[in-house]
Amino acid sequence: ARILVLHGPNLNLLGSREPDIYGKTTLSDIHAAMESRARADSVLLESFQSNHEGQLIDRVQAAASEGVAFIIINPAAYTHTSVALRDALAAVQIPYVEVHLSNVHAREPFRQHSYFSDRAVGVVCGLGAYGYLAALEFALTRLREHNN
Ligand code: DQA
Repeated sequence: ARILVLHGPNLNLLGSREPDIYGKTTLSDIHAAMESRARADSVLLESFQSNHEGQLIDRVQAAASEGVAFIIINPAAYTHTSVALRDALAAVQIPYVEVHLSNVHAREPFRQHSYFSDRAVGVVCGLGAYGYLAALEFALTRLREHNN
């Protein structure tokens, strides 16, 4: 099985970007932790970060032909703006969990609407980097159940 992890704009700066809000863990730390957890279940996990909306859309479209079974996505600021990325996920019909490091509901009002949540299997927010591992644990359990 394959799981794709997508990270939107500015998440390449994790670790140094507003650490009071987003924590000190870097994206490569997050990837390493997820990768080793997935490997223990013989699941192939791939991560992709982009600051460009179209590249994220291209990656989602490619996932369909690659047989990706589940997506874990933090659309970052595109959460609140991107109908196009939402539409790409709807087009490929790959189930996804939406992750946010911060508790978006405790922040500015414009962060409280997501173009992704109503189609997500679930949403994790406010748990910092741990949220990605929680989402992964869920995805692994779900893949196991669906393969049996
Ligand atoms: C974020 C929350 C978004 O509102 C913000 O634009 C981000 C990161 C989070 O992980 O908390 O870039 O998705």
